[in-house]
Amino acid sequence: MKPIRRSRLRRIASPFVAPPVFDFWAQRLHPTWSWERPLARVVDHAPASSNAVTLTLKPNRHWAGAQAGQHVNLTADIDGVRITRSYSLDAPVARDGRISVTVKGVDGGRMSAHLLQAARRGEVFDIGPAFGDLVLPAKVEGAWAFLAAGSGVTPLMALVRQLAGQGMPVPVTLVYWARTRAELCFVEELRALAARYPAFDVRFVLTREAATAADEATGRIDAAPLDALVPDLATRQVYACGPGGFVATATGLVEGRVPLLRTEAFTPPPRPQTDDSGTVEVRLARSGRALQLPRGVALLEALEAEGVKPKSGCRMGICNTCACGKSAGATRDLRTGTASTESASALKLCISSAVSDLVLDL
Ligand SMILES: Cc1cc2nc3c(=O)[nH]c(=O)nc-3n(C[C@H](O)[C@H](O)[C@H](O)COP(=O)(O)OP(=O)(O)OC[C@H]3O[C@@H](n4cnc5c(N)ncnc54)[C@H](O)[C@@H]3O)c2cc1C
Ligand code: FES
Repeated sequence: MKPIRRSRLRRIASPFVAPPVFDFWAQRLHPTWSWERPLARVVDHAPASSNAVTLTLKPNRHWAGAQAGQHVNLTADIDGVRITRSYSLDAPVARDGRISVTVKGVDGGRMSAHLLQAARRGEVFDIGPAFGDLVLPAKVEGAWAFLAAGSGVTPLMALVRQLAGQGMPVPVTLVYWARTRAELCFVEELRALAARYPAFDVRFVLTREAATAADEATGRIDAAPLDALVPDLATRQVYACGPGGFVATATGLVEGRVPLLRTEAFTPPPRPQTDDSGTVEVRLARSGRALQLPRGVALLEALEAEGVKPKSGCRMGICNTCACGKSAGATRDLRTGTASTESASALKLCISSAVSDLVLDL
């Protein structure tokens, strides 16, 4: 018997069943068949370093694709709780539609622990649209420096692979910080690319071990070592990615000195101090609940602690997944410390804290 094609199945079923019912039955035939939900199935799971794993995923046809350097939200069911986190693609989307992400273990981290230790071939995640502007221009010109720390190497690796696919048309130096050699990902591939393309150079910088190889150095990101690692830095377009503290330091060292600087932080930058303390009443207009939530804490975190699970993704104000209406009260943007007293407005729960009693559209 010929297999039933998805489009035919959809056409036959369309007048009769609701999308969730269609999904329920379609996924018994194939794990990523869905009426409209973008889903991605794990097709490979391989160690990338002592504390990182590379997952190869096959998204279904509802996922609209991505540019190298962008990231997606992945949602998994972990012990009955749906958890969403952002991950950058570590390579351009393959011809057969496969994508890969490399995930570093974070101490006490729920999603990263699941992806490293429990995720297996066949597991299916919800996958969100791609976003992020750490992408290369259509016509790549001039010289580039990519500064990466820890898992921040992933979008920059995607760009290196994209450029390698084009024969490395422009000079690129990747400077890649990690605590130890064992935590570095993609080492053999990066060394092979450096050996193959004179235009590509890689430097591995270890913060907790001595350098032993010619392409290694030691130390945290700082002005003098950075200039030694990339002597012509001032002529290069710079992309930097890593934890918030690294990105903030890199920005301080490089901003204004180079023709272009673009950054992406995987964790929030250090927050300005505020003296918000105590609790306020937060009313959730749609569910009718009233909660006492702490001031000075991100509303997303405070709501989750009370068992409310608003949609979220990046948890640092980038993806807009947690956007929510506010119909009364004052909030503070935790990134800048600025208070917003405008009563009817939209806010992002992950980077806003309550200043006064609030009414939220939840
Ligand atoms: C745009 C974007 C792209 C990203 N791309 C990648 C990627 O390609 N690979 C990757 O491994 N991660 C990436 N991340 C980080 C990822 O989204 C998660 O934050 C990370 O996997 C930790 O999630 P968790 O559920 O394990 O930790 P949680 O349970 O959310 O947090 C546990 C603890 O760890 C802290 N924490 C959270 N994230 C980090 C972190 N990244 N570093 C150090 N401490 C942290 C938290 O503050 C908390 O104290 C990206 C983040 C963003 C915003
Ligand atoms: S979760 Fe991404 S903006 Fe709040």
